[in-house]
Amino acid sequence: LSVMRRACKITAAARALAGEMVRPGVTTKEIDKAVYDFIVSQGARPAFLNYCGYPASVCISVNNTVIHGIPGGRVLKEGDIVSIDVGALWNGFNGDCAATYACGQISDEAQKLINVTRQSFFEGVKFARQGYRVSDIGHAVQTYSVVRSFVGHGVGEHMHEEPEVPNYGKPGRGPRLVRGMTIAIEPMVNVGTYEVQVLKDGWTTVTADGKLSAHYENTVLITDGEPE
Ligand code: MF3
Ligand code: CO
Repeated sequence: LSVMRRACKITAAARALAGEMVRPGVTTKEIDKAVYDFIVSQGARPAFLNYCGYPASVCISVNNTVIHGIPGGRVLKEGDIVSIDVGALWNGFNGDCAATYACGQISDEAQKLINVTRQSFFEGVKFARQGYRVSDIGHAVQTYSVVRSFVGHGVGEHMHEEPEVPNYGKPGRGPRLVRGMTIAIEPMVNVGTYEVQVLKDGWTTVTADGKLSAHYENTVLITDGEPE
């Protein structure tokens, strides 16, 4: 767990660094490069790079892109909302986290979406405690239009481990949460339909109706008291 803590601290610092770079005129590949350099400077490895062939260190998903946006020449512009998802592997263990950032001045609708998505994570984390079950988290997260075809997950020596942690569903189902488990809780919330579509590159996942989407994720440790 102390190794996990360190991996997660590096990951969260990488997310913060990327978030601070979000402003009009920046390209997504500049953010990717800065994150790569930072993670390597910490003696860690970007966990996403080459994961199932993924070609970058960060997923940068702008506006109607839900997840897995590949950094490149896209120039961020005023009013964009930008989801940053990043992982670091340190001494054999993974941290995984994400958040959506405003590029300059954004619409009220976009800001509300970001707030609701973040809040839904914190609703879910209330149930990330010994004695509850995995689906109690998803039931609490479920809000507005939550994406169903991608889910949270266990995280540790592998970035994706059991159990799956859906962001919706009936309470009282799935594995029991036990102290020592580490799980990534990661609501993806859409303004419109929760249906998504994966583009031909095999990664970029967009909303089916072209409306905005936001993401918020942290790696959470189940303890016998407050989740960490
Ligand atoms: N970060 C994603 C998750 O939260 C996984 C990214 S897949 C990758 O589960 F290929 F981009 F690494
Ligand atoms: Co994740």
